Amino acid sequence: MPPRGPGWDILKAGRRARGGVPTSRLPGFFKLPPAERAAVVARETGLTKSDLALLAEGPDRERLDPLVENVVGLHPLPFGVATNFTVNGRDRLVPMVVEESSVVAAASHAAKMTRPHGGFKAKAGGAMVSQIALKNVPNAAAARALVAARTTELLAVANAAQPGLARRGGGARFIEVRRVTTERGTLVVVHLHVDTVDAMGANAVNTMAEALAPVLEEMTGGTSLMRILTNLADQRLATAEAVFDKDELGGPDVVERILDAAAFADADPYRATTHNKGIMNGIDAVVVATGNDWRAVEAGAHAYAARFGRYRSLSTFSATPEGHLRGRLTLPMALGIVGGATKAHPTAGLALKILGVESANELAEVAASVGLAQNVAAMRALVSEGIQKGHMRLHAKNFALMAGVPAERLEEVAERLVAEGDVKLSRAEAIWKEMAGR
Ligand code: MEV
Repeated sequence: MPPRGPGWDILKAGRRARGGVPTSRLPGFFKLPPAERAAVVARETGLTKSDLALLAEGPDRERLDPLVENVVGLHPLPFGVATNFTVNGRDRLVPMVVEESSVVAAASHAAKMTRPHGGFKAKAGGAMVSQIALKNVPNAAAARALVAARTTELLAVANAAQPGLARRGGGARFIEVRRVTTERGTLVVVHLHVDTVDAMGANAVNTMAEALAPVLEEMTGGTSLMRILTNLADQRLATAEAVFDKDELGGPDVVERILDAAAFADADPYRATTHNKGIMNGIDAVVVATGNDWRAVEAGAHAYAARFGRYRSLSTFSATPEGHLRGRLTLPMALGIVGGATKAHPTAGLALKILGVESANELAEVAASVGLAQNVAAMRALVSEGIQKGHMRLHAKNFALMAGVPAERLEEVAERLVAEGDVKLSRAEAIWKEMAGR
């Protein structure tokens, strides 16, 4: 039986009244100790006793040993849960694994501002693309025509290499041929578009590309240089949109300043990099929590931000006629809910269970929504009080923890550090020595 602390009281009546439908609106959740937060999440999302034990203790080393090589231990990161998200009309509690303070709180805070306007509307889907690069093709124009004429046969070869994918409703869909001029000559580059359904799909598309390469070599007279997916997954995009309430943002002046901040990010690559990093703070945390390849998502996002030849903002903003802030974020989102670490990693499986997503596209829609929320939270803080104020509180707590302060006295010590404006480890140690000596 999970502990019946304040978390239970918050939710007991609410959930029953809602006929068991989970809510992401959990006032006071952030004030609970971790075990009670976990119990609240369990009640909302149907986690079992053993799921709760896994959250408390983490997976074991032997279980994760097969994932990579030369494993000697595990390296845990905090597993937070963001609240207040509604995506496409459905409340979602969002697992976020990240080492940076403020990220989970900021996402939850900005998500709350969208609730009066219906939350996030999001859409994701599309195909992964694999590249087969051919060198020494005697006649590139003829090669292109040949590949076009024999597309059906080539798609069949690709699909035969991954029969399971077709059974799940996916498969190779389309082939295009490009010419890429390099300093060492011209390459004929064949792009194979594959619907990978609920898998991120790297293995599937790479296997297909490897199967296709010898056929393409024979067809074009060229030699295959390499066969690998592109992480610029611009055929597999996720878009999230939301309206952020002007009053919750701090008024019309803050909306204006956020619009200025967004324009600044779009105009200046130095600012755009940091602006997009803020977006990825949220997205990566969801991607890591669900056992997906965050390097792939990062690489795709930044390349997509530079698709017009200049590095720009991934998000766009405008004011609604009533003066609220409308935001939109689009980026490549190659995620899976089957295969890779998503199932092999026990807490990644748990993250998917908490989210309750039924497809990779739903997961991508949530991730994009979190990215947009994170972006708005960062801009709001930057154009008003700045981000250091909030950070200082968390730094103060970290210093108190390092000074050996027990969990139940952390807030007290942190508060004193912030009030004194002297947020340092040495001061935390001195305060704790004085308090403990009393
Ligand atoms: C910090 O991790 C993220 C921010 O720098 C993002 C931004 O500047 O927009 C606050």
